[in-house]
Amino acid sequence: METVRGSTSLVGLLGWPVSHSLSPNMHNAAFNQLGLDWAYVPFPVRPTDLSKALKGLIALNIVGVNVTIPHKQAVMRYMDEVSKSAQTVGAVNTVYIKEGKFIGHNTDITGFLSALIEADCQPKGLRVAVLGAGGAARAAVFALAWSEVDSVVILNRTAERAAFLIDDLIDVFPDSSLYFGPLTEPSVAALKDSFDLVINTTSVGMYPHVDDCPWPENIPMQANTVYCDLIYNPLETAFLSRAKAAGAKTIDGLGMLIHQGAVAFELWTGKTAPVKIMRHACLAGLPHKRRHKP
Ligand code: ATR
Repeated sequence: METVRGSTSLVGLLGWPVSHSLSPNMHNAAFNQLGLDWAYVPFPVRPTDLSKALKGLIALNIVGVNVTIPHKQAVMRYMDEVSKSAQTVGAVNTVYIKEGKFIGHNTDITGFLSALIEADCQPKGLRVAVLGAGGAARAAVFALAWSEVDSVVILNRTAERAAFLIDDLIDVFPDSSLYFGPLTEPSVAALKDSFDLVINTTSVGMYPHVDDCPWPENIPMQANTVYCDLIYNPLETAFLSRAKAAGAKTIDGLGMLIHQGAVAFELWTGKTAPVKIMRHACLAGLPHKRRHKP
């Protein structure tokens, strides 16, 4: 979309802050590629202004928005309808506004699964460790249980938070094997050979703390385990770089970003998302592709 006109369909992002988001690059590149008269605008919205911002979207005839930190949970109470998966995860990251009504979705779930599958990692039957128990972990664990993994062990700095997450999911997946523990050297040492896939959902290693790693320093990584990081800034985190050095397969966080965006794009426009173009736009906009500090 080269020019915004009166006829342009608008979508956007509600978050605080939004200045570093790659979503405008990704969606606007996709609109351009398909020749759609659409535009994606980032809206910085303070937590105290969320309800006013939502009302404004209807008044301005905005088609939909992505919702990011810190609004993903708070936005739920303003929705007229919420998809079942978003309800279970307890977070909405995509809103579609239909005839003045807010419909809340969580595209992180399918986005995460598509990223795994794209990287040739079929989760069904795998023994998985999830590091972290925050918002990103909720979507990942839901997706894994939904995909019939063999088991999920949630390891978190605050172990009780991992227990709460399991409590919320076990009602929906009563037959799944979900466990939790503290993210400490002894607990990881006891489990280290038991995983086919280890996923970092914590913020440890995110720019600017690029040398931090959530995996305990003295515990070796395994060549026959796949290591996945949901962080995409930097693209190669210390966690993934250690895994690579151990000879393991790695999956970076860009795939989930792109695929959650692709599902939102398809919800809003009804068109197939040009995933390759979206990836290219994200890569072009990524400030820190490597771990080295500038
Ligand atoms: P998000 O929505 O991005 O997942 P979040 O809900 O704030 O963000 O969750 C952040 C996750 O990173 C949590 O699992 C957090 O652990 P706690 O539950 O103990 O807070 C984890 N985390 C953040 N900083 C960490 C650190 N320095 N060491 C280990 N875990 C950390």
